[in-house]
Amino acid sequence: IQNEENESQTGTLRWAARTFHNTLESPKGVQGLSYLTEARGLSRAIIQQFGIGYAPDQWDNLINEAKQASIPLANLTELGLTTHHKERGSWYDTFRNRVIFPIFSIGGQVAGFGGRTLDSDPRTPKYLNSPENPLFEKSKLLYGLHAAKDEIRRSESALLVEGYMDVLALHQAGITTAVASCGTSLTRYQAKILQRYTNRVLFVYDADPAGKKSMMAGIDTLVTEGITPFVLELPSGDDPDSFVQRAGKEEFLRYSEKNKQSFIDFQIRFFTQSGNFAQTDVKAKAIRAITHTIALIPDRIRQELYLQELSEKLGISFSSLKELLVIESTMRR
Ligand code: GTP
Ligand code: MN
Ligand code: MN
Ligand code: MN
Ligand code: MN
Repeated sequence: IQNEENESQTGTLRWAARTFHNTLESPKGVQGLSYLTEARGLSRAIIQQFGIGYAPDQWDNLINEAKQASIPLANLTELGLTTHHKERGSWYDTFRNRVIFPIFSIGGQVAGFGGRTLDSDPRTPKYLNSPENPLFEKSKLLYGLHAAKDEIRRSESALLVEGYMDVLALHQAGITTAVASCGTSLTRYQAKILQRYTNRVLFVYDADPAGKKSMMAGIDTLVTEGITPFVLELPSGDDPDSFVQRAGKEEFLRYSEKNKQSFIDFQIRFFTQSGNFAQTDVKAKAIRAITHTIALIPDRIRQELYLQELSEKLGISFSSLKELLVIESTMRR
């Protein structure tokens, strides 16, 4: 029964993705299409490749489409595509007035949706996702991986970004190793998935305080799985989408070559920017935190090499760092 249920759910997901996409390309979709192509600079080709769609500003568009296609309302409800209005006892479309990004499994099956509102009212949540269910666990998915995985393997590196639009803009520019963790902080599970494809991951999160904090946390998650993280900090206020759309592929690559940092350099910079290293306690806290990250690395030899690097860069003896490493290895695991 579980199997049959899954099959009908995958079928409904595929149907819904196709319906959102067809709506975008129909007369009902002009607003969505002009938003994507004009306001966000996406090409028809990338819209096609990623199956992007549109949910009009209407309460029952998908419900009516389902009726016409003889798809039971219950199927939509199970997937959270419709929502129950308790007072009225009726159902309405969950995604309205949004462009819709189908989120694919590694194998390319639709697992769920993310929708970005066209509404500029700050009270409307900018993004909305399908509710979690066994087929759609956001913590286990990476947006864009189905399209990026071959190139990630070939080039032995992945680019990790925050959002759907970042993935799409980079792929459109021909940088096809980009994947996103989609709002959630990077999980161990996602790191394990990435590890199957590459040992080198470049973080390119938004150039704001939240993005920097997320990269600091993400570094620990990646090194734990044996991945070597690098960090690219974009000009203040940019995200990969805004940067690559403005600067283009060549400039992005040039900027990346020039500004890519090792995770240790990024951590040192992060701590020097947030406090004064002339103060012993501030510097000590940073050394402890970075050593903690190094302690998470599963390879002893690489641990040694990073400790050496840290010792040279921060002017603290290797032997003290080694002692600290032992302490950090037994703590806060
Ligand atoms: P644009 O404004 O469309 O360029 O979006 P963005 O991707 O730059 O948004 P932002 O940097 O604010 O957020 C990064 C990612 O976090 C988004 O792509 C979403 O996956 C997720 N996210 C952002 N805001 C929300 C929200 O309100 N709800 C949910 N569930 N996710 C969000
Ligand atoms: Mn099409
Ligand atoms: Mn952001
Ligand atoms: Mn952003
Ligand atoms: Mn953005």
